[in-house]
Amino acid sequence: MSIYILGIESSCDDTSAAVINERKILANIIANQHVHREFGGVVPELASRAHQQNIIPVINSALLHAKIHKNQLNAIAFTNGPGLLGSLLVGATFAKSLSLALDIPLIEVNHMHAHILAHFIEDDYHTKFPPFPFICLTVSGGHTQIVMVRETFDMEVIGQTLDDAAGEAFDKAAKIMGLPYPGGPLIDKLAGEGDPDAYSFPHPVVGGLNYSFSGLKTSILYFLRDRLKEDPSYMEKNKHDLCASIQKTIVDVLMKQLKKAAEQTGIIDIAIAGGVSANSGLRKALLNEEAKGNWRVYIPKFEYCTDNAAMIAVAGYFKYVQRDFSGQQVVPYTRYR
Ligand code: KG4
Ligand code: ZN
Repeated sequence: MSIYILGIESSCDDTSAAVINERKILANIIANQHVHREFGGVVPELASRAHQQNIIPVINSALLHAKIHKNQLNAIAFTNGPGLLGSLLVGATFAKSLSLALDIPLIEVNHMHAHILAHFIEDDYHTKFPPFPFICLTVSGGHTQIVMVRETFDMEVIGQTLDDAAGEAFDKAAKIMGLPYPGGPLIDKLAGEGDPDAYSFPHPVVGGLNYSFSGLKTSILYFLRDRLKEDPSYMEKNKHDLCASIQKTIVDVLMKQLKKAAEQTGIIDIAIAGGVSANSGLRKALLNEEAKGNWRVYIPKFEYCTDNAAMIAVAGYFKYVQRDFSGQQVVPYTRYR
């Protein structure tokens, strides 16, 4: 029997629904929320309200696009955490109600596991899948983790940020530069025309396989404050070089600990996941290691890097196969566990 799963993602500021047939994506619909732009970051209460407005149209659209009737679904998978509580509650409540109404299993999915399991989506792009065990650098707006992935749901965080996440570092740097939220993709774009060696920002000294990004934002803030005093148009004149240098610093910091992790574990199958894995500088740095023959590298398709429900659905499929279902009593959680 062919298995159809509806995936629902609402952990932060994207409302998404996907339908999969086993590991093949039939539809992956994402509604971005633009209400946060003017605030320079996600406003939780606005995110929750926007999810409420978006969730029914997005799910409807996913079913229509997949040409699947809701009665054909075998299970509903949804993000149960980590994320913003008000946002998670919208997806969780809808998933619970729909599974009850259709009398099909409910599957809770950990958002961070799902980012990693996006590597197992089957399509024309994903021609090779990482073999277990592999290492995954999971870099998003809320998390930066080096994860040892032993099996689909046997994962261990072996390094992580002690303060800001890598995505947060991009977004905060962009905010200091007066760029709109989310700043990561914009810095990436502007960096394309800049000199990455124009400026050098300090690299944090952190033990083990951990990261720290909070110092970077402070050094950018003070550096620009001083330059702007001398020349108010300094930022505008130098934005390409600034973006390229900031991006290079973040990528270098990420790569240094990742290389250490590969050396310490002897693992050469290296994957990236999460929103920041869309970054062209990071992708290039990884592909460079592959070209040198050091690693076998796994980079998800662009649309499965940032938040999406396809990854939730595929994680749900793996749980479905293991009959790992949830009861109606499950409640969302905000922190990684
Ligand atoms: O995984 P994600 O979509 O949401 C979270 O779970 O956080 O990641 C969002 C983060 C944001 O910080 C955004 O600025 C960053 O990913 N991001 C990027 C790029 N695309 C998204 N950062 C750098 N370069 C990009 N191209
Ligand atoms: Zn995410």
